[in-house]
Amino acid sequence: MLNGEKKIARPFRWAMIGGGRLSQVGYKHRTGALRDNTAFTLVAGAFDIDAERGKEFGVNLGVNENRCYPDYKTMFAEEAKREDGIEVVSIATPNGTHYEICKAALEAGLHVICEKPLFFTSEEGEEIKELAERKGKIVGVTYGFSGNQMLLQMRAMIQQGKIGDIRMVELQYTHGFSANDAADKTSDAQKWRVDPKVAGPSFVLGDLSTHTYYMSQLIMPQMKIKKLLCDRQSFVGSRAPLEDNAYVLMHYENGAVGRLWTSSINAGCMDGHRIRIVGSKGSLEWWDNKGGELRYEVQGEPAQTLIRAMPYLDDSCNADERLGALHVEGLSDSWANIYLKFAIAMDAKNRNDEETLKNLVYPDINAGLDGIRWIENCVRSADNGSTWVEFEHEKAALV
Ligand code: NAI
Repeated sequence: MLNGEKKIARPFRWAMIGGGRLSQVGYKHRTGALRDNTAFTLVAGAFDIDAERGKEFGVNLGVNENRCYPDYKTMFAEEAKREDGIEVVSIATPNGTHYEICKAALEAGLHVICEKPLFFTSEEGEEIKELAERKGKIVGVTYGFSGNQMLLQMRAMIQQGKIGDIRMVELQYTHGFSANDAADKTSDAQKWRVDPKVAGPSFVLGDLSTHTYYMSQLIMPQMKIKKLLCDRQSFVGSRAPLEDNAYVLMHYENGAVGRLWTSSINAGCMDGHRIRIVGSKGSLEWWDNKGGELRYEVQGEPAQTLIRAMPYLDDSCNADERLGALHVEGLSDSWANIYLKFAIAMDAKNRNDEETLKNLVYPDINAGLDGIRWIENCVRSADNGSTWVEFEHEKAALV
């Protein structure tokens, strides 16, 4: 169980790029990083594309006025001059800026925590992975739901054979908030999401399904996709070529099959993030709206609902428990769990503690790179007339 006691020698000096006053995701980063007072301290930032607004916002967060910078380049240059300069930066800006900022941060000698989808191409991902290795730095990726400890329970139960051999994988991340084009014209956060120059080669496949794909791999690390077929649509025509709905069929190397539905036009749906894994003996199902519960069904036996924080759960699951039974945990706790693991990873990297790094389960650069490949494979299939394509886990030239 976590209680905020320190896991590393001292908190990291942390800065944010983006995540300003009007951003959707900025507060989630802060609620995650600052939950354990012992892991991160927010000391600087270039919080906003609007420098004045960013400065005012940073000051209101309690950051020293002199360390609220107009842009990230100024921040890296000025912080490098300080003895107590920043050690890690989180990038919470629109997708099209991630690669350039991430590269500059690593070159400035910083650890990086970056939003998903990480970059536009796997070539960019490979380049950044190599740079991070050369610089001895961590790149963490904020798959924010993936810190929910019940996913580790699923992972443990699958490893223990509780559902038998995996046969079917059912993944869904949908909502209805873009069912019409109203927000495409009025919301800054939505405008860039449907602009390929800023969003990249996809809308919902990158925006939503990269989370679910990573979570499925977290739960079933042994399951690799062999081939897939993606069918994507732009029901709001002005979004084309970016999709607001997509279906993906998957064949795994072990013979299992799967399907994923991702959509921002599932009208009326407020929250549709579900994972169901069906094995030869039984099934496990998780739904983020009841994230503290796990449905466990064994063929021929009464179904069970496993509840967070109970002693019958796996140690790996309860190790990430924060509040204890009787109380509700949620997305903020998931973010706090991920951020704590980023801090532990960075600390281990600084100390060349490869053993800790090897055993730590968290969304690292490889998870970010896998997310890019997931999008690339889906888009390749969809744009080839929705045909089956072999899943390229690595580019041939790099194998
Ligand atoms: P947004 O448009 O709501 O906010 C972007 C923020 O970045 C704003 O504060 C803006 O002023 C600032 N900004 C833009 N360019 C900047 C620059 N060059 N330097 C400094 N600040 C800059 O976008 P939103 O929805 O917050 O998304 C940001 C990123 O987070 C995206 O990559 C998105 O995919 C991801 N995201 C992830 C979520 C998760 O659960 N992990 C949830 C929502 C978004």
